[in-house]
Amino acid sequence: MVNASALNDKLAGKFIVLDGPDGCGKSTQARLLWEWIEGQGLEVGAYRDPGTTMIGERIREILLDPVHEQMADNVEVLLYMAARAQLWKEKIGPDLDAGRCVIMDRWISSTCAYQGYAGGFGIEKVIQLGSDCMERVWPDITIVLDIDRETAMKRMNRQLDRMEQKSAEYHEKVRQGFIRLAEIFPENSVLLDANQSVEEIHKQVIEAISTGK
Ligand code: TMP
Repeated sequence: MVNASALNDKLAGKFIVLDGPDGCGKSTQARLLWEWIEGQGLEVGAYRDPGTTMIGERIREILLDPVHEQMADNVEVLLYMAARAQLWKEKIGPDLDAGRCVIMDRWISSTCAYQGYAGGFGIEKVIQLGSDCMERVWPDITIVLDIDRETAMKRMNRQLDRMEQKSAEYHEKVRQGFIRLAEIFPENSVLLDANQSVEEIHKQVIEAISTGK
């Protein structure tokens, strides 16, 4: 049982990210967490990256359209970062300043794992670029849902976008990139096994944010 006032203190102005490979179930978990926090009577904003803002949604379309198969890795980095900087300006920054909790469906951890690690741009360079163009790069907690490609593919039973269509080798590296990030930043990352049931993962997500990790 979580004490409501202690939870309020813990979550006010907290910046929480759910991330992981395609098909890991993070959007479902972000929604469940949002419902749970709202149910506790707390103010919370929930956004997706890339997207949410008008500019971000247009950048998202460019990034995910399969006709742009020639897009270079460094162009991906810049576009993802541009969409994110706009999201910070319009939503995340003002929410955190007002003491609202923010839940993100993906964040710079994705750029580190996809473009930085799998794409070869370099995790350190991604972090440097993020620090150069945004007020704040790291959330209070990043919850990574780890999943193998085979299981993830079974869940993505639909038309794949440009990123999802990349090779199995690329996506295996993405997975390794996320695991690597959790190792580099153990103090504010939690790695959960996404092969468990939706309910079990939700329980573990709540535990992670309630215990302050
Ligand atoms: P989504 O479908 O989970 O919203 O994410 C869109 C796609 O973009 C997904 O395949 C992951 C990819 N992506 C990156 O490659 N780099 C990033 O920085 C982000 C945020 C997403």
